[in-house]
Amino acid sequence: MPPPLKSSMAGNDKNDRKGKGAPKGEAFIEGDQQQATELDSASFGAQFFDLSLDMCCVAGFDGYFKKINAAFESTLGYSKGELLANPFLHFVHPDDVGATIAEMGKLSEGALTLYFENRYRCKNGEYKWLAWKSFPYQSNGLIYALARDMTLVKNAEQAIRSQNEWLEAQVKLRTTELEDAQDEIVNRLAIAGEFRDEETGEHTIRVGEMAARIAAVLGMSGDQVRLILLAARLHDIGKIGVSDLILLKPGKLTNDEIADMRRHATLGGRMLSNGRTPLLQMAERIAVTHHEWFDGTGYPAGLAGDEIPIEGRIVALADVFDALTNDRPYKSAWTQDAAITEISSHSGTQFDPRVVDAFLVVVGETGSLAA
Ligand SMILES: [Fe+2]
Ligand SMILES: [Fe+2]
Repeated sequence: MPPPLKSSMAGNDKNDRKGKGAPKGEAFIEGDQQQATELDSASFGAQFFDLSLDMCCVAGFDGYFKKINAAFESTLGYSKGELLANPFLHFVHPDDVGATIAEMGKLSEGALTLYFENRYRCKNGEYKWLAWKSFPYQSNGLIYALARDMTLVKNAEQAIRSQNEWLEAQVKLRTTELEDAQDEIVNRLAIAGEFRDEETGEHTIRVGEMAARIAAVLGMSGDQVRLILLAARLHDIGKIGVSDLILLKPGKLTNDEIADMRRHATLGGRMLSNGRTPLLQMAERIAVTHHEWFDGTGYPAGLAGDEIPIEGRIVALADVFDALTNDRPYKSAWTQDAAITEISSHSGTQFDPRVVDAFLVVVGETGSLAA
């Protein structure tokens, strides 16, 4: 063991005794000195060296072990002779050789190794993880090092990591399955809502896609964009509660019939109320507000500006745009240019100007409204 360590151990021992108020008779002092001499002896240090359950060694900067304790043999399975006869890098895992050489470089400049890990090959071909603490004696070109076998700890850590990865994969899988099931239910519900006036449900699909594109241009998060894509499909779900006589009437509606038709916004909100998922909560906001006007002259509540949830303002535009550009029983499809002009002319009155601007970006990006 290096001199500083020995003097430190002896000094502490004496101080401890003084601190405990030990008797100061002549006989004791003689015995104390005798014990101190024994503690200072090289054989005492050597016993600790060999008794250590951890691996202790002295190595040279020439890359060879100079002295190793019994734990080296029991841990790695080699004889002392085999370990001393080969450069220690010979036993280091190929992937750890570079880091080991770098750590040796730091030691050669006088730095301590407080914690360093590498893998050593055992006699049976397996590798063991060793954690090192080392300090260099530049004056005699030696390194004093202690190593602990961390293989069990490392294996346990790896097992926990693998278990966590498996659990994360399972959670991801289940989440995807739940999302798929939710999407499927929303799709079916949207088709049910449109079943009487349009069996395919394509209007709600197009409204959802346009709403999602506008939301993305407005900078809404990916999660919000995905939600509006689906939630917008339920905007007219309240039409389930509107009579066929009104919903399918080919001619012009009377004032009472118009009032009845407008109930679909409130009805849709009621159908979707108290939803526990963000999707249903957004769908409720859209169903209730997609006929509100930015200037406060819409229905059912006459909300204006930011009082109307952003999703409602977006779907209001996407809904009208899709209605204009597709055939309906009472009208033919408008051209895309005519629909864009119509939408733009209602910026600030029927529609939120920011939403109109985002819509124009979408139209400009896609080039085709059907894209
Ligand atoms: Fe509607
Ligand atoms: Fe609609």
